[in-house]
Amino acid sequence: MDFKEELKKYQEEINIELEKYLRKKDCLEGVLNESMEYSLMAGGKRLRPILVISTYRLFQNDIKKCMPYSVAIEMVHNFSLIHDDLPGIDNDDFRHGKLTNHKKFNEATAILAGDGLLNYAYIVISDDLNKTMNRIGNNKNELLELDRKLKVFNEFTKAVDRMIAGEYVDTEYEGKEITNDDLKYIHENKTGALLKLCVRMGAILGGANSEELEKLTSYAEKIGLAFQIKDDILSEEGDENILGKPVGNDKEHEKCTYVSKYGIEKSKEILNKITKEAIDNIEGFGDKAEFLRNLALYIENRNK
Ligand code: IPE
Ligand code: IPE
Ligand code: MG
Ligand code: MG
Repeated sequence: MDFKEELKKYQEEINIELEKYLRKKDCLEGVLNESMEYSLMAGGKRLRPILVISTYRLFQNDIKKCMPYSVAIEMVHNFSLIHDDLPGIDNDDFRHGKLTNHKKFNEATAILAGDGLLNYAYIVISDDLNKTMNRIGNNKNELLELDRKLKVFNEFTKAVDRMIAGEYVDTEYEGKEITNDDLKYIHENKTGALLKLCVRMGAILGGANSEELEKLTSYAEKIGLAFQIKDDILSEEGDENILGKPVGNDKEHEKCTYVSKYGIEKSKEILNKITKEAIDNIEGFGDKAEFLRNLALYIENRNK
């Protein structure tokens, strides 16, 4: 299967999985449920769940085990997007080619839809932890699985914490001069933390040893930074119709980005360099890591 087909297949699998978690609309909070669904099913690339699953696949085939964590991270991601678009943060009207959540519904609903998705992620994980616990009995394998899942859950909570911190620093720096280090800090936290978490979750759940985990973590750190640099570049010169979100808004809000700091050409050079470094980090995994290598290139070359 070629990379594009494989990516599409993953996206379809994840969408089918997410649909299982959609909530009913015939209740008093029906519109809130509808607004959570509106954003969750709006057409995101599903990069985070794909990272979890494709990293897990380096070690194991039965991807069922990592599905709740893939669903949970996509919920958190969509929470972050809903809140990121709010008037108090980026004040954007379009995402995924559709009105942003607060524009489609209203601000109160969008704030609560974000809160709802964040907490739903924790419901999904804690349900899975409970189920794993209940299966333990005398089964040593289940105990090992629970141990890995608890480690993953702990990392999950901390990555969300970092994403929120990064978003805060990002908004604080609007219209101000920024140092190279602080800009990197924003990117590593607001975007990198969740992407790194995804790779680490896949690796830990799959049973990576410490050396493998270290290599994959370095890969993830690089693609995490690369992803946001590319986002900055697309915000400067992307095609709004393909992106489904506004172009030029970073400039308009005087955001500190790689493009505002280094210019477009230098940003592309940095992006290219760290993508290469990301790929080098997973050389040792051989053919099995072909998809992850292609994913790094996809991040560098994507137009949406
Ligand atoms: C957008 O992330 C927000 C950033 C962290 C840059 P994605 O581009 O992964 O969002 P969707 O879900 O695919 O739209
Ligand atoms: C989004 O960053 C990061 C998070 C939502 C955590 P941006 O504000 O740069 O991303 P877009 O361009 O709105 O997707
Ligand atoms: Mg933002
Ligand atoms: Mg934004």
